[in-house]
Amino acid sequence: MAEIVKKGTKSMGRYHYVFPKWSNMLLPAALAGGAIVPLYVVLVVAYGFSPETTDVGYQPHQPVPFSHKLHAGELGMDCRYCHNTVERANHAAIPPTQTCMNCHTQIHKDSIKIRPLLESYLEGTPVTWRRVHDLPDFVYFSHRAHVIRGVSCVECHGRIDRMEIVTQVKRLSMGWCLECHRAPDIHLRDPRLVTKLGWGNDMSDEDKLAQGTIWRETNDLNPSQDCSTCHR
Ligand code: HEC
Ligand code: HEC
Ligand code: HEC
Ligand code: HEC
Ligand code: HEC
Repeated sequence: MAEIVKKGTKSMGRYHYVFPKWSNMLLPAALAGGAIVPLYVVLVVAYGFSPETTDVGYQPHQPVPFSHKLHAGELGMDCRYCHNTVERANHAAIPPTQTCMNCHTQIHKDSIKIRPLLESYLEGTPVTWRRVHDLPDFVYFSHRAHVIRGVSCVECHGRIDRMEIVTQVKRLSMGWCLECHRAPDIHLRDPRLVTKLGWGNDMSDEDKLAQGTIWRETNDLNPSQDCSTCHR
């Protein structure tokens, strides 16, 4: 199986400090100068608007320069070829090296970009892909619950099929989840179209809303806002 590195672990080089590390050094100076309040404000503003707190724009570099733009976009591979548990499990599986080697034992096998993949294959060690999206552990989330009910990947991950490097585009905050749970219609489509990310781009908002309402009614959908739905 492929390995996914948790956010906040050492190899990610990314910790969830309340304040950036360097602020520790400023603290004694600030206390001495009685400047704690203004400093606090500056830190909160500076840190509060950085990508680390909202996570939007978070884009870790990966050990193999794998491009969704090429594979899912230009080559037109379906998301489920690689993320094959997305319709039946909470988590969407990251493909093992073997999946890549279905093609890359032949294609570009001598390329320097493929080398780490080849090493992983020959040594039987998984590629340590870095996690991009990561909810706190106290949140319950299920891919299956969304995907089989007609919520497309694009609603939560954006145009992955145009990304050279995967970037987080939505906040994944509680407010964001609830916004859709309160009014899902505009975000719904025929469940068979969930991996067609460009679908509906040529439709007006009214048409999109109208067809979404049909899917909600025919499938009797009613996304819950109860705390226990997402915090169990
Ligand atoms: C050829 C295999 C392959 C295909 C096809 C593919 N992916 Fe991926 N996907 C990967 C790999 C490998 C990673 C981990 C490396 C990375 O983030 O780029 C990944 C990562 C991701 C992530 C980020 C996971 C995280 O860590 O948060 C998302 C979201 C994602 N893919 C969505 C999609 C969507 C949507 C499609 C279809 C449009 C798709 N993928 C098609 C192989 C694939
Ligand atoms: C269905 C076949 C197929 C699968 C499966 C596949 N690839 Fe590819 N990949 C290609 C093709 C075709 C190209 C080259 C396109 C070109 O050069 O025009 C390519 C190119 C690449 C390149 C760029 C190589 C270079 O030298 O430019 C990398 C890196 C890569 N793939 C990584 C992966 C990884 C990682 C996986 C598994 C998550 C994967 N591929 C799965 C078909 C595939
Ligand atoms: C309703 C929003 C939503 C939809 C729809 C959605 N995802 Fe995700 N995805 C998320 C969230 C939230 C996470 C982070 C999950 C976590 O941290 O537990 C995530 C994580 C992932 C990951 C990383 C592995 C994992 O499960 O944590 C992959 C890969 C992925 N998504 C692919 C897809 C693909 C492919 C689709 C469409 C077939 C899709 N997602 C549809 C919200 C969504
Ligand atoms: C774009 C719309 C959308 C977004 C964003 C979204 N959801 Fe949902 N969610 C739905 C729909 C639609 C359902 C299905 C409701 C039904 O089956 O009646 C659902 C169902 C669920 C379920 C019920 C699973 C079950 O069957 O027990 C959970 C849990 C859930 N969502 C959690 C989340 C969390 C956590 C987030 C944010 C990280 C989120 N959702 C974001 C639309 C969304
Ligand atoms: C649709 C899913 C969903 C529902 C329903 C939901 N939450 Fe949350 N909640 C989340 C997510 C996702 C987060 C994580 C937000 C983040 O990391 O920014 C969260 C975070 C929290 C936090 C942590 C505070 C914070 O800002 O980090 C608390 C407390 C909380 N929720 C309480 C509740 C209560 C009380 C209810 C019921 C009134 C509720 N939640 C309903 C998804 C949900």
